[in-house]
Amino acid sequence: MIKALGSLLFYGRFLRSFSALGFQRRSREWPPFKPDFSGQRWLVTGATGGIGRAVALAANRRGATVLALARSERKLEALRKAADHPARMLPVSADLSSIARVRALTGEPEIQAAPIDVLVNNVGVLLNDFETTDEGLEASFATNLLGPFTLTESLKTQDLLDADGIVINVSSGGMYGTPLKLEEMDCRGEDDYDGMAAYAMHKRAQVELTRYWNEHWQGEPAVHVMHPGWVDTEGVKTALPGFRTALRGILRDAEQGADTILWLAETRPAPTEEGIWLDRELRPEHEFAFTRKSRHDAEDLAGFLHERRESVRA
Ligand SMILES: NC(=O)c1ccc[n+]([C@@H]2O[C@H](COP(=O)([O-])OP(=O)(O)OC[C@H]3O[C@@H](n4cnc5c(N)ncnc54)[C@H](OP(=O)(O)O)[C@@H]3O)[C@@H](O)[C@H]2O)c1
Repeated sequence: MIKALGSLLFYGRFLRSFSALGFQRRSREWPPFKPDFSGQRWLVTGATGGIGRAVALAANRRGATVLALARSERKLEALRKAADHPARMLPVSADLSSIARVRALTGEPEIQAAPIDVLVNNVGVLLNDFETTDEGLEASFATNLLGPFTLTESLKTQDLLDADGIVINVSSGGMYGTPLKLEEMDCRGEDDYDGMAAYAMHKRAQVELTRYWNEHWQGEPAVHVMHPGWVDTEGVKTALPGFRTALRGILRDAEQGADTILWLAETRPAPTEEGIWLDRELRPEHEFAFTRKSRHDAEDLAGFLHERRESVRA
């Protein structure tokens, strides 16, 4: 009962901002947007569905060569066929939840060919049921956090991220509901698992990781974190069917969800010390006082992820 009331208050607070209503209201003020990504190399994770697909297709249309990463080869082929310039839509079939597979990625010729200008860490899943990967990791932790962390760090350490480029981490407004708690980051057992809480925690962690990378990389490349608002995608249909039914008429479409990612890639703002982008504006990282209270910070998080990554190798 208390949990249901909490959810109602949480969603009610953000309804006008995160739904299509917020996008429509804000976008009325925006000048025409015709980005030019000619000659750029993009790596978009989760490129075959929802927001990632809209990003991959738009970047390709606007001149970029897109390395499109997802698991299903069938969906990757459909994406290539749907692209305006299929020769510049390059499929990369990989499961981001497999740390061994992610490590191997940077050795692949199409990734090694030249540094990436724009990395969009878009994959994110809310798994209602507890699952573990073959490497013994909780599956949403591996998919949302450890896989993207390993990918981004590997690209950076192997000079495969262009220093003038940009990394865009796709978080979620769900992160407003939780402080950073390392002890709950990688749930070890079914009894303690709450898919929504795990998802929110991973999304909060992406905000902290953005800070960590900006502090350590000094803008080479710049890292930004954004959230797309509430978007009608397969992910939402599968994970949050009740939410989708209740809000169906006012959910954003995938292009609206992708807009700020494309805008960041085009405008390339300098890294910021804090904040999360929504609808082309930097917003606060916290909306509730309790989420500021954490025993852990970005350095602790990165240390934890390095350790977990190495434990997979062991
Ligand atoms: N939709 C929303 O309302 C909303 C709100 C806030 C934040 N977000 C965030 O926006 C991002 C995109 O969400 P979405 O709703 O567009 O997602 P989606 O519709 O579920 O699309 C998921 C994409 O990720 C790929 N994928 C899933 N698991 C993967 C894995 N283990 N390895 C590689 N690729 C994988 C899928 O392709 P395969 O299945 O072929 O791998 C597909 O291309 C996520 O980070 C999400 O948290 C979404």
